[in-house]
Amino acid sequence: MPESIALRKPTPSDGKSVYDLVKQCPPLDINSMYCNLLQATHFSATSVAAELKGKMVGFVSGYIVPEKPNVLFVWQVAVAEEARGRGLAKSMIFHILDRAETRQVDTIQTTITADNGPSRSLFKRLSKELEAPLNEYEMFDRDKHFGGTHDSEFLIEIASFRRV
Ligand SMILES: CC(C)(COP(=O)(O)OP(=O)(O)OC[C@H]1O[C@@H](n2cnc3c(N)ncnc32)[C@H](O)[C@@H]1OP(=O)(O)O)[C@@H](O)C(=O)NCCC(=O)NCCS
Repeated sequence: MPESIALRKPTPSDGKSVYDLVKQCPPLDINSMYCNLLQATHFSATSVAAELKGKMVGFVSGYIVPEKPNVLFVWQVAVAEEARGRGLAKSMIFHILDRAETRQVDTIQTTITADNGPSRSLFKRLSKELEAPLNEYEMFDRDKHFGGTHDSEFLIEIASFRRV
């Protein structure tokens, strides 16, 4: 990761920057700014902000799945175009895993649409580095869950990796 990019836990003051960053990162769904504020507040311990010269260039929102303290769910990964291709997305996820608050995590889950190649490459890379298999199941179906308005979302799981 480039040394000039600083990674840290988000704070409520980051909500607007997260909103603006996600807007610049199709095909990510744009959430309400209120949702981004909650991510940066209640889910700060399992999310990360990346800054380059005071500008937010990366954000990962994540949370621990209710009733499953070992599962980190990665909600969204956003990297500004100018910061892509330098390992930032991967570094942000490892930054979350390196915290005391996620010591119990041994499984990562996310959902990805069938056509999001970059996202699939990212999680394939993580599965390799964590030396754990990558499993895939359909989670939210285009017709059954989205009423035909959104592509199906597939659950990608990197399960039972070893913590050192
Ligand atoms: C997907 C995204 C987060 C990747 O960010 P990034 O910082 O460039 O990713 P990294 O540099 O950490 O790359 C991690 C791995 O993914 C691969 N990857 C990243 N972008 C890729 C692309 N456009 N095409 C193919 N592979 C890609 C990298 O090659 C790397 O694998 P490798 O080490 O085996 O080569 C970024 O492109 C983005 O924000 N895209 C728009 C939003 C989105 O789709 N988010 C993903 C939702 S989970």
